[in-house]
Amino acid sequence: MILGRLISSTRDIPEAVVVPRHVAIIMDGNGRWARKRLMPRVAGHKRGVETVREIVRACIDRGIEHLTLFAFSSENWRRPQDEVSFLMNLFLRALEIEIAKLHKNNIRFHAIGDLSRFDTPIRKLIADAEALTRDNSRLSLTVAANYGGRWDILQAVERMLQAHPEKRSDFTEEDLSPFLALADAPEPDLFIRTGGEERVSNFLLWQLAYTEFYFTKTLWPEFDTAALDRALESFRKRERRFGRTSEQLQAKE
Ligand code: IPE
Ligand code: IPE
Ligand code: MG
Repeated sequence: MILGRLISSTRDIPEAVVVPRHVAIIMDGNGRWARKRLMPRVAGHKRGVETVREIVRACIDRGIEHLTLFAFSSENWRRPQDEVSFLMNLFLRALEIEIAKLHKNNIRFHAIGDLSRFDTPIRKLIADAEALTRDNSRLSLTVAANYGGRWDILQAVERMLQAHPEKRSDFTEEDLSPFLALADAPEPDLFIRTGGEERVSNFLLWQLAYTEFYFTKTLWPEFDTAALDRALESFRKRERRFGRTSEQLQAKE
């Protein structure tokens, strides 16, 4: 199983780490990358898949245990129909091609989000990929698809109350957290957003409570291993206080 103590509540203080155990990324800027080259937006999405391959490899080499990628938000259905269809096909093809390779490399694949809105072939590929790679332990790769942070909190409350109806009037963070997406991973240590926007766009709202944020203007298709290393270097310099004072941390050292 993947290492790392699970943090299920803001009442816990995680251990300090030099290399983040869990990195969560909003892969943004594909459309602008393509438009800059006078190509259709979707060419940027295609190119973005290659970036995913490079970043997965780099995360493994650096000992990162969990990588969570925002591939499609619950709001992305608002895009033009042909872009949405292209993304669905790309997702399908990437799953078909990559899953065997992920498995060979001992990577555990997982998808989070409201998958009920996807067509059956995609849902089947996801389910098969999850089953095939379930026991892999090198890197846990989670793809957020039709995911929204608010949806996640609501579905967790709903499932918790189904499992424990008696908790209706009294429940804690620890009661809820097992029902949230990513319950099997420590909360992200580092959040990266490429593409220059400095917002969360309904990504992991609950899980990012104490995550370090890193924004870069680099567009996702250009985000390479060196760019990842710059984000990791920035992370190393942060002092994660979790509510305490700097003096308290130094005294502990
Ligand atoms: C991110 O790139 C990929 C998805 C949201 C699917 P964008 O498509 O948002 O690219 P920009 O932000 O328009 O450049
Ligand atoms: C966020 O990017 C979602 C993904 C990268 C999958 P968007 O491009 O959809 O975000 P906004 O609309 O600029 O906030
Ligand atoms: Mg965008």
